[in-house]
Amino acid sequence: MAYAALRSIGAYVPQKVLTNDDLSQMVDTSDEWIYKRTGIKERRIAADNERNSDMGAAAAELALERSGIAKEDIDLVVCATISPDYFNMPSNATIIATKIGLKNVTSFDISAACTGFVYILSIAKAFIESGMKKNVLIIGSEKLSAITDWTDRGTCILFGDGAGAAVISATENKAEAIVDVHTGADGEYADLLMTPNGGSGSAHDDLDKEAGSCFMQMKGNETFKVAVRTLTKDVKEILADNNIESDSIKHFVPHQANYRIIKAVGDALKMKEEQVVLTVHKYGNTSGASIPMAINDIYESGRLQAGDMMLLDAFGGGLTWGSALVPFSPLQK
Ligand code: ACO
Repeated sequence: MAYAALRSIGAYVPQKVLTNDDLSQMVDTSDEWIYKRTGIKERRIAADNERNSDMGAAAAELALERSGIAKEDIDLVVCATISPDYFNMPSNATIIATKIGLKNVTSFDISAACTGFVYILSIAKAFIESGMKKNVLIIGSEKLSAITDWTDRGTCILFGDGAGAAVISATENKAEAIVDVHTGADGEYADLLMTPNGGSGSAHDDLDKEAGSCFMQMKGNETFKVAVRTLTKDVKEILADNNIESDSIKHFVPHQANYRIIKAVGDALKMKEEQVVLTVHKYGNTSGASIPMAINDIYESGRLQAGDMMLLDAFGGGLTWGSALVPFSPLQK
């Protein structure tokens, strides 16, 4: 039987830094309020001429180079995004594949908001375990600045841009394999976090009437409570299902939405500070890109070593949620 192993990670962050002080010049807020409520100090913003697919392609190139797997051996590319270059088509995955010179691959996008990376991990795992594909490039890439209402202080303080990517490949060695991925969704909570207009469900003239309705809107406080409740339950379940104690997790890599959510879930699992991976202070919430950007952070700082077990968790619009138990399994040279 083929198992799926995470071989490599890569990320890209745009150069421009937007600080909380910068934001306080744009809306009625302050560095103190933002940091206390979210843990965010600054975020990165893509240049005007920098597309989502440019960032995704940069992250993907790095992940591919680090994987030791040849480009021609990649047979599937999946991108998680809620801010693609184009509305509906062509897919970001297809644009990225072409930008980095991949030919004859299957490529498509998925929409699961901030849970996107956990969803594409489960897709890669399923394709590989079924024997349909062998080497899968997964990318979480977001240009959220393009779908943010910069006059809404309830949301514009939260989001940033960036991309992360990973190569997942087939192995016969179970010790290298992704242990488990949980994914879930509940559309009853759809209105907590959405871009209300711009889809085929809205008439064209509604777009003109409701300025800003193509931007992200969120009921932050309610979302916060559902996130803590759902994530705590889900991470406890994935550990129990796989008979893994939280102290054998080397790196807890949560979606970087809000430090208070991360702390609440980490505390519920009795995670020690050194187990918890944090990038929210410097990148804010980059939705589908946040988990691979955080994994890349511990990779580049030397904290992530071959064999380390990671626990991922994420929560986002839909509502969607997910968690995963993933060892880091680079190909041995
Ligand atoms: N600066 C100053 N004051 C503000 C700001 C701001 N930027 N934003 C809101 N306020 C005010 C509100 O108007 C309110 O004032 P009032 O008491 O006079 O009415 C007060 O601060 C409290 O507002 P809340 O919304 O209750 O603040 P809360 O503590 O819930 O923090 C936040 C807001 C940071 C958005 C938090 O709710 C949160 O992080 N929610 C979860 C986000 C999340 O995880 N989303 C899922 C992933 S995102 C995705 O999928 C794309």
